[in-house]
Amino acid sequence: MKIPVIIDCDPGTDDTIALTMALASDHLDVKAITTVAGNQTAEKTAVNGLKIVSFLDKQVPVARGAENPIMRPLVTAGHVHGETGMAHVVLPEPKIDYLETKAWDLFYELSVIKNEKIHLITLGPLSNVAIALMKYPKLKDGISQITMMGGAVGYGNDTPAAEYNIYADPEAAKMVFESGIPITMVGLDCTHQAWLSAAEINAMGSPTEKNGIWLAQEMMHHIHAFATRFGFEGAIMHDPSAIAAVIDPTLIQTKDYFVTVETKGEHTTGKTVVDTLRVTGREPNAQVALEINREGFVELVKELMKRYESGGFRC
Ligand code: RIB
Ligand code: CA
Repeated sequence: MKIPVIIDCDPGTDDTIALTMALASDHLDVKAITTVAGNQTAEKTAVNGLKIVSFLDKQVPVARGAENPIMRPLVTAGHVHGETGMAHVVLPEPKIDYLETKAWDLFYELSVIKNEKIHLITLGPLSNVAIALMKYPKLKDGISQITMMGGAVGYGNDTPAAEYNIYADPEAAKMVFESGIPITMVGLDCTHQAWLSAAEINAMGSPTEKNGIWLAQEMMHHIHAFATRFGFEGAIMHDPSAIAAVIDPTLIQTKDYFVTVETKGEHTTGKTVVDTLRVTGREPNAQVALEINREGFVELVKELMKRYESGGFRC
C-alpha cells in the first residue's frame, strides 16, 4: 500500500536529490509538491520545483507557498545552494505550470476535504505548515504524520545552536511542534551520519544522458565539495534522509521526546529544545531521529536511482 504524501520543500540541492528519490519510489504516492522560501527566494524554489518535476517527466502538481517566514525576514542560503538554488545545474524551462492553489490550501484540500490521510514530508522552513494550521483548525484531522528534516538535539548548522530549516522560521516551527500532529524529527544528529563518499556517488550510475541519476549525482558532487570543506566524511544527505525515513522507517532509530523551539534567544533562536532527560514533565510530541543505518541508506538511494536508468531527458 503506497503512502500518500505531500512534499513541502525549498529546492535546494539536497531537496532535489530527495525529490528524485521520492518520485522514483514505489512506496510513496506523491500527491503534490509544494514549495516555500528558504534556501532561495520563493520565486526561485518554486521554479526549481517545477523544473525538477518537468525534467523527471512526473505528473505531480506543484503549488507555491510562503514568500517569507511568518514573523521575520527571510534568510536564504545561496552560499550553500548557489544563486539559483540548483548549484551549477541548469534545467530546461518547465513544460508545466504551478497550480493556482496555494500550498497551505492544498494541504487542506488533499487531506480534510478529500477525506484522505496525508503524510506531510517537510524539507524546508515550516512557514507553509504554520499558515495552514492557522487558517484551518481542522487540518490536523487530515495529516496522519509530519516527517520533517529539521532541528537537532545537539549543535546547529546555521548558528551554533540552530539548524537552518528551524532557524529560518522558528515561530512556524514552534507552532508545528505544538500542533498535536504526530511528528518525526529527522535532525542533524541523524543526517550528519547520512553521508556519501565520492565513490558511492559515482556508483549511483553512469548515465549516458541527462536523467534523474545525472541530476542527483550533480547535486551530490556539489554537496560533497561543500561538506568536505567543513571536515565531513562525504556529501551530507539532509533532505534525502527524511525521504528515506518515510520509505523505510527501519533505517532510523528514534526516541520519543518533548520538543519545543526557542524564538527569543540572542544566540539560541531557532534551537530545537529537546527534553532528553524528561525534566519538563511534558508529554513527548516527537519521535526524534538519533541514528541512521548509513549503509542501508546508501543502498536505498542507489536502488531508487536505478529506476531512472531507462528513461531520461535528452538535451
Ligand atoms: O539544515 C539542512 C536543511 O537546510 C536542508 O533542508 C537544506 O536543504 C536546507 O534547507
Ligand atoms: Ca531543504
